Amino acid sequence: MVKVHILSGTDRPGSNALKVSRYATNMMAERANTELFSLEQFPLADVAGGVYGNAPQSVKDFNEKFMDADGFLFVIPEYNGGFPGILKVFVDYLPFPKALQRVPVSVIGEADGTFGALRPVEQFEQILTYRKAIIYPERMFIQNVNSTFDEKKGLKSEKLQKLFEKQLRCFPDFVEKLDYNLVNA
Ligand SMILES: Cc1cc2nc3c(=O)[nH]c(=O)nc-3n(C[C@H](O)[C@H](O)[C@H](O)COP(=O)(O)O)c2cc1C
Repeated sequence: MVKVHILSGTDRPGSNALKVSRYATNMMAERANTELFSLEQFPLADVAGGVYGNAPQSVKDFNEKFMDADGFLFVIPEYNGGFPGILKVFVDYLPFPKALQRVPVSVIGEADGTFGALRPVEQFEQILTYRKAIIYPERMFIQNVNSTFDEKKGLKSEKLQKLFEKQLRCFPDFVEKLDYNLVNA
């Protein structure tokens, strides 16, 4: 089975991103070896002052563990029409270019608003494109997350739940079937 690391893209305690990430980690576990990471664990205090290019050992350790996967799933909340600042800090300390280059990445957005984090997901995809990641084309935008998502049962809408499950079940197949000789040619 392929290895997929799931990242909850905020450090906000009790976040919906972490709840969605937990759900995704469990559901995807039928098809992949999954491990959940949360930016709550990112050693933010250690990068105060901007130590770009000279990451402290704590950040290197976090990154090394995270990068040891065949593919990634990012769960991204919407903050002020964008993605959380800590997610950008995290990416800015990922080794360049190897961390994301030619790596398959799937993205899920969640927000309390009606756009379901469409903006932050697409903003983040611009960065993934810059970092030459291979973006999985199916995305899920969880709207009104506080009333539409249940950590145990998933999405209340049957139609959206089907799409959600499809994304989570098919991404590992996508990772497995990628022809790395072709993408690295
Ligand atoms: C700093 C901040 C800014 C937010 N800005 C938006 C926003 O622009 N649009 C929106 O729909 N919801 C916004 N929200 C609500 C969040 O999207 C919603 O509460 C989401 O579930 C928060 O994600 P989290 O629980 O993973 O932190 C904001 C929440 C926070 C904490």
